[in-house]
Amino acid sequence: MNLGQTSSEQKAEEPKAEQAEQPKQPKPDQREAIVENRRKVSVAHARLERLFDDGTMEEIGGEVTHRVHDFGLQDKQAPGDGVVTACGLVDGRPVYAFAQDRTVLGGSLGQAHAQKITRLQDLAIRAGAPLIAINDSGGARIQEGVDALGGYGEIFRRNVQASGVIPQISLIAGPCAGGAVYSPALTDFVGMVEGSSFMFLTGPKVVKTVTFEDITVEELGGATTHAFKTGVAHFAWKNDVEAIDNVRKLLSYLPSNNREHAPFVEPEDDVERMDPAFHEIVPDDTSQPYDVRKLVNLVVDKESFFEVHQHWAKNVVVGFGRLGGHVVGIIANQPAELAGVLDIDASRKASRFIRTCNGFHIPIISLVDVPGFLPGRQQEHAGVIDHGAKLLYAYCEATVPKLSVIVRKSYGGAYIVMSSKHVGGDINLAWPHAEIAVMGAKGAVEILNRRDIAAADDPDAKKDELIGEYEEKFLNPSIAAQRGYLDAVIEPHETRRKLYRYLRVLMNKREWMPPKRHGNIPV
Ligand code: HXC
Repeated sequence: MNLGQTSSEQKAEEPKAEQAEQPKQPKPDQREAIVENRRKVSVAHARLERLFDDGTMEEIGGEVTHRVHDFGLQDKQAPGDGVVTACGLVDGRPVYAFAQDRTVLGGSLGQAHAQKITRLQDLAIRAGAPLIAINDSGGARIQEGVDALGGYGEIFRRNVQASGVIPQISLIAGPCAGGAVYSPALTDFVGMVEGSSFMFLTGPKVVKTVTFEDITVEELGGATTHAFKTGVAHFAWKNDVEAIDNVRKLLSYLPSNNREHAPFVEPEDDVERMDPAFHEIVPDDTSQPYDVRKLVNLVVDKESFFEVHQHWAKNVVVGFGRLGGHVVGIIANQPAELAGVLDIDASRKASRFIRTCNGFHIPIISLVDVPGFLPGRQQEHAGVIDHGAKLLYAYCEATVPKLSVIVRKSYGGAYIVMSSKHVGGDINLAWPHAEIAVMGAKGAVEILNRRDIAAADDPDAKKDELIGEYEEKFLNPSIAAQRGYLDAVIEPHETRRKLYRYLRVLMNKREWMPPKRHGNIPV
C-alpha cells in the first residue's frame, strides 16, 4: 500500500475485489488468515503503521464486527467493522489512534465501530496519551439507525471530556460526512489531504435532493474550502505520507496531557544569538508591508517554526516553535496581509490557538504590529464585537507565560488585546520606534483639530504641523515604558535573547482564576 499516491491511484488499489472473492461467512479457522490479509492490504492499517514508530503498533479489537441482521448487512463481510483501533509509540511516547476503512461499508459508523472508538478514547484519557483520529467515513451507518446516531453521541461526549486533557488530532483522509466531521471539529487540530479528502455534514447528493444545487465534493468541502475559506481545517497536506508525517511532527510540539509540558528539544541554535537581520525585516515606514514569518523564524530556534492555519485568516500568523528548546506558541500580526489588521477570522484563529496553548501549558509569545480592528459594515454585521471579544477573552483567560514585543505599531483596541500588560501580559517589550496610541496621527488630528485646521491660513501646513506634534508625543514607546506598561525597550537584534531570558524564569509560572464552573467566552 503506497500512501504517497494520489486518491485515485489508491482507490484503484483498494482491496474490494479481493474481499468479494472471499467467503461471506468465514469459518473460524479462516478468520485469522482474513484478518492477517487485511492487515497487509488495508489503507487504514498502512496509515496507522506509518503513524507509529516502526514495530510499535498493537491493534485493539481487530476481530470486532457488527451484529446487525437487517438491510442485507448479515451477508456483508465487515472486518473490524470498518475501523482499525490501535496503540503504539510516536517518538517513543504512548499514542492511541484509529483509522476508518472506507473499503468496509464506506467506513460508515455502526454500533460496534463506535464502541471500538469510544473504548480507545477511554483508554487514551485514562492513560493521558494523545488520540489521533484518521477519518475516512460516510458518517452514521444508515442501516443501523439510532444505534449509529447514538454511537456518534458517545464519541462526541468523549471528545469533549478529552478536550484540554489530552491532545486530539484529526486527519481527514477521505470523503467524510456527518458525524465523521463533527467529531473532528471537536478536536484540537484538523488536517486534510488535498484532492482526496472532503468534509461536509451532507454530501453533494443530499444537497442536490434538498436544495437542487449542483456542487462538487471539492467545492463543498475540499481541503481548499476548509483550509483557505472556513478555517475548519488547520492544515492541508499533499498526500497521506505528508499528512501522517506532519501529524507526528505536530505531536512533538504537544505534551502527552495537560499535566505535562511539551517535550524539550536540546537547541542547536544559540539562544544568545543577536542577529543583525532583525534590523532589516521591519521597514520604518509603518505603511510598508513585510512578511512577519521572517521575524518569527529569527526569534525561534532555527527550522522550528510549525505554522498552524497557514492559509486562513492570513492577517495573523500562529504556530508553534521552540525557544531555547522549549515549545512556545507564536501569535504575530502579519503586515503583508490586510496590513495586519485584526478582523473576525483573525480573532477566531488567534483565540482558538491561544486556548490550545493555554490548555497544554505552552507559553505564548506575541509579536505585535497592528493598525487596529478592521472597520466596516460587513465586519460589524457579522459580529466582530463578539469575535474580537473572544480574542480578548482568550488572552485574559490564559494563565501560561505571556510575553510580547511591539515591533512597530500597536493602536487602539488591538493594543489592548494583543497581550498587553493590562490583559495580563507577564513581560511586555517594545522596539525603540514602536508606536502606541489610540489611533494613527492623521486620523487623530482630523478628529481633534478639525476646527484649527479649517481656520488656518494654510490648512495643509497646519495639519502637517499638528501631525508632527502628535507623532512626537505619542508615536513612541516612552510613555508606556514610563508607566510600566512596557517592561523594557529593546534593540531589535536583542529580541531572541531577551525573550529567552524572560521565558526561562517564567516557565514554572502558576496563576489561578477565581473558582467557577467555567467562564462564558463569547463563542
Ligand atoms: C452506510 C454508506 C454510508 C453510510 C457511504 N456508504 N456512506 N453506507 N451508511 N452513511 C457506502 C455506500 O453505500 C457505498 O457502498 C460505499 O459506502 C461507498 O460510498 P459511495 O457513495 O460510493 O462513495 P463516494 O462516491 O466516495 O461518496 C462518499 C460520500 C457518500 C460523499 C461520503 O457516500 C455519501 O454522501 N454518503 C452519505 C453521507 C451521509 O449523509 N451520512 C450520514 C450523515 S448523518 P457500496 O456497497 O455501494 O460500495 C450522521 C449522523 C451524525 O453522520 C451527525 C451528527 C451531527
